[in-house]
Amino acid sequence: MKYKKIEIHWPNGKTSEATPGQGWLEEAKKVDISIPTGCLTGSCGACEIEVNGEVIRACIKNIYSPKERKLKVNFYYDPYW
Ligand code: FES
Repeated sequence: MKYKKIEIHWPNGKTSEATPGQGWLEEAKKVDISIPTGCLTGSCGACEIEVNGEVIRACIKNIYSPKERKLKVNFYYDPYW
């Protein structure tokens, strides 16, 4: 099922409601989170976040419609950096 509005739970405890297809960087700003960026083309990895356990590059991915209408975002820390 595709949802028109997705509930997003952010690591700072805030929640937002987004439309699938919106950008992650803009949505994060609404809840006072600034996702670090670098290249903005998907090659450097500076903007990586974890969404429902999957690591994505926020600059090139849009908010998608999950199976359960909720997405949980965490900051992603690469253990090799
Ligand atoms: S800003 Fe470089 S991959 Fe997203």
